[in-house]
Amino acid sequence: MEDKTEENKELVPIFIMGKRYEVPSSLTIQKAMEYAGYQLVRGCGCRGGICGACGTVYRFPGSYKIEVGLACQTVVQPNMYLAQIPFFPATKSLYDIEKIKPNIETLMKAYPELLRCLQCNTCTKSCPMDIEVMDYMAAAMRGDIARLAELSFDCVMCGLCTSRCPAEICQYNIAILGRRLYGRYIAPSAVHLSSVVQDVEKGKYEQMLRGLMDTDEEGLKNLYNQREIEPEQADENWIPQDRTYL
Ligand code: SF4
Ligand code: SF4
Ligand code: FES
Repeated sequence: MEDKTEENKELVPIFIMGKRYEVPSSLTIQKAMEYAGYQLVRGCGCRGGICGACGTVYRFPGSYKIEVGLACQTVVQPNMYLAQIPFFPATKSLYDIEKIKPNIETLMKAYPELLRCLQCNTCTKSCPMDIEVMDYMAAAMRGDIARLAELSFDCVMCGLCTSRCPAEICQYNIAILGRRLYGRYIAPSAVHLSSVVQDVEKGKYEQMLRGLMDTDEEGLKNLYNQREIEPEQADENWIPQDRTYL
């Protein structure tokens, strides 16, 4: 006779670091771990698929395949065996972006192991963001900074590619160097941003910021609640009525 409650019917077995738990089938891996009693101090940041802190590997019984996902974005499935990889040691080069050039020599000097890439595609298969990691590595090896930056744009630096690379390369730190070089030297500068930066340097916002720092909590709440909010249907030309700081 069926004796499960409605709630129990929705429970599924999962294995967290080898130990069996029954968790609601609608939960993400992250919430399921908390449901099972884990307190996530590391390996948990934005909870929204942005920070990359929650890289997770899992397998199903009888399958050779290692699956990957972000714990905050991946819903549990029955009988998954999982472990989070909250941090994976990575090579990280130090450089002064003002003193380097956007070329292949810079990439090679910062990460000489780049040339060890076998083009095996394991990194692409390990990426929870569906990024063509092998292709951006190929762009890096060609010194094509713009392509490296473009292909790696959605990287959340979770480290899953690095954890599986047979050439022991840290792809995401190479990619962020590429994006920094692209932003500093290759991308056309945004005119409106340059003018705001000039305003900042001239001290246009100093008085306003000092005023905010001198305002008590209640005053800050009032300012926040009374601020002019962009209408939901506003087009890109919308500007607030108070243009004091524009
Ligand atoms: S996993 Fe490593 S060796 Fe393989 S393609 Fe990616 S970077 Fe190259
Ligand atoms: S490229 Fe690597 S570090 Fe970036 S999101 Fe993909 S697996 Fe994570
Ligand atoms: S907690 Fe930030 S991506 Fe999952």
